[in-house]
Amino acid sequence: MSKMVKTGVFVLLLLTVMVLPAMNVYSQEDMRAVDSSAFDCPIRPPAVFAHDDHNDTAGIDDCARCHHLFDDNGRKIEDESSEDQSCADCHAQEDKGTVPGLRKAFHWNCKGCHLQQRTGPVTCGECHVKK
Ligand code: HEC
Ligand code: HEC
Ligand code: HEC
Ligand code: HEC
Repeated sequence: MSKMVKTGVFVLLLLTVMVLPAMNVYSQEDMRAVDSSAFDCPIRPPAVFAHDDHNDTAGIDDCARCHHLFDDNGRKIEDESSEDQSCADCHAQEDKGTVPGLRKAFHWNCKGCHLQQRTGPVTCGECHVKK
């Protein structure tokens, strides 16, 4: 093989090893529902949530509107987001001090905004749609 071909093959291999897994991590555009496996014993069908389409239609630009971060005093850190973490990384099954439990965290976040903006689903069956 010529040196150029060898370099080409090497670069391709490098792309496969480094870029493809990184793209997999950022698969929120493929998300159609919120995974409920973080719950000890899920009883409802996973809530409908087409991540990117939802946020486009709803006009939410700030990732930290949902993927938030707080300092030790419970103050929201502006211009930073926790999009690389799942909600369950910080929200336990049950409430802990000022940190709401996981189910409450989802319901306050999702339903809270829908109620506030008077649009979007607020009844159980509209989000937890039976297949
Ligand atoms: C705006 C959307 C929305 C509405 C309305 C809503 N939920 Fe949820 N709920 C979620 C999301 C998101 C989760 C996180 C996990 C998932 O996708 O199921 C969740 C989680 C849950 C869980 C814990 C996981 C499980 O399956 O056991 C229960 C129980 C639940 N919801 C019940 C209800 C009930 C009862 C109602 C109506 C009173 C309701 N929800 C209304 C979005 C919603
Ligand atoms: C309306 C709320 C909301 C907004 C706004 C939002 N996300 Fe998400 N995102 C979620 C929820 C809910 C999940 C699922 C989290 C979980 O399961 O713990 C998620 C998951 C993700 C994941 C993990 C994907 C996967 O497949 O596991 C990434 C990456 C992500 N979001 C990036 C972003 C980025 C970047 C932005 C801003 C451009 C953003 N999100 C805005 C709610 C939101
Ligand atoms: C890095 C840790 C962390 C992650 C990740 C995280 N949270 Fe939180 N969340 C907190 C903390 C800490 C508080 C309590 C803040 C306070 O003391 O008032 C909180 C509070 C909340 C509250 C109540 C206060 C408010 O802002 O409405 C909701 C609702 C909530 N989280 C939903 C979510 C959802 C939904 C996700 C995932 C998309 C998520 N959180 C991801 C740490 C986190
Ligand atoms: C910051 C505000 C906000 C938050 C947070 C939010 N939504 Fe919404 N959502 C909206 C708005 C606005 C609409 C109506 C958009 C339109 O005009 O169709 C909507 C519509 C929806 C719809 C119906 C349209 C569609 O996209 O299928 C579903 C389902 C939905 N939201 C689920 C959720 C779930 C689940 C969560 C939490 C993980 C969530 N939403 C969090 C603002 C929000």
